Amino acid sequence: MSQSTSESEKRLGLTSHNIFARVYERLSSGLAESNFMAPLRREMVGKASGLVLEIGAGTGLNFAFYQPGQVERVEATEPDTAMLRYARERLNTAKVPITLTQAAAEALPFADATFDSVVATLVFCSVTDPVQGLREIRRVLKPGGVARIGVPDGRRYAESYVGDPRGFLESIRPGRPTPLLAMQEVFYLEGHRAMYDAETLTLLCAACGFVSAKESPFGDGRMWLNPDSEHRRLETLYVEAVK
Ligand SMILES: C[S@@+](CC[C@H](N)C(=O)[O-])C[C@H]1O[C@@H](n2cnc3c(N)ncnc32)[C@H](O)[C@@H]1O
Repeated sequence: MSQSTSESEKRLGLTSHNIFARVYERLSSGLAESNFMAPLRREMVGKASGLVLEIGAGTGLNFAFYQPGQVERVEATEPDTAMLRYARERLNTAKVPITLTQAAAEALPFADATFDSVVATLVFCSVTDPVQGLREIRRVLKPGGVARIGVPDGRRYAESYVGDPRGFLESIRPGRPTPLLAMQEVFYLEGHRAMYDAETLTLLCAACGFVSAKESPFGDGRMWLNPDSEHRRLETLYVEAVK
């Protein structure tokens, strides 16, 4: 890859994280996927309809959840070359036609008012410029189209770490000056760039011009098992934003 190509790829937000992709792929056969993520995928992806845009498709774990008869076609985007390799292999799990394109949320290669639905699961915690990403999503949605944006629930995450009277944080990040600093270290080590709760994400969607944005009730999908330790209580949430 020439230097100028790689510089232009960087400008477009394109990446190649081989190790993260391999780890993420390995995790997808574990408890974190079945308990933490599968209920969110079933709920959010199952509601997508018409011409759908998926943002940050990762290794393609959502593909199997798109409903034929309801979804006409999916344009799945992902900025990372290594993730895309796994996603390509997962295309055969889909029951609807899916096209894969390398692109970041902040620069979507689609015309205005193209899509009926947008899906982004566990992506916005990693997006460098979330305001630009949400503006792009709004731009490519048809009027009345719906974006469903799912993220780890930052409030629960914080409560479970910092409020843990058993000192779980101290056991994994000993000697940090405050529990909050130790928690931030764990959160950002996972490659995250921003933490959201429902209130923050709905505010951000409204600021980016969506006419309505609210947290969607998540019924029985609410997670109660702790995927990686007996101390942690993780949750996901998602917001429905209408153009
Ligand atoms: C935790 S993974 C989630 C993947 C997939 N959505 C899922 O639910 O399994 C986060 C994904 O967001 C992608 N990502 C990071 N920055 C992005 C950006 N600016 N725009 C779109 N996707 C991005 C990463 O490459 C990665 O595939």
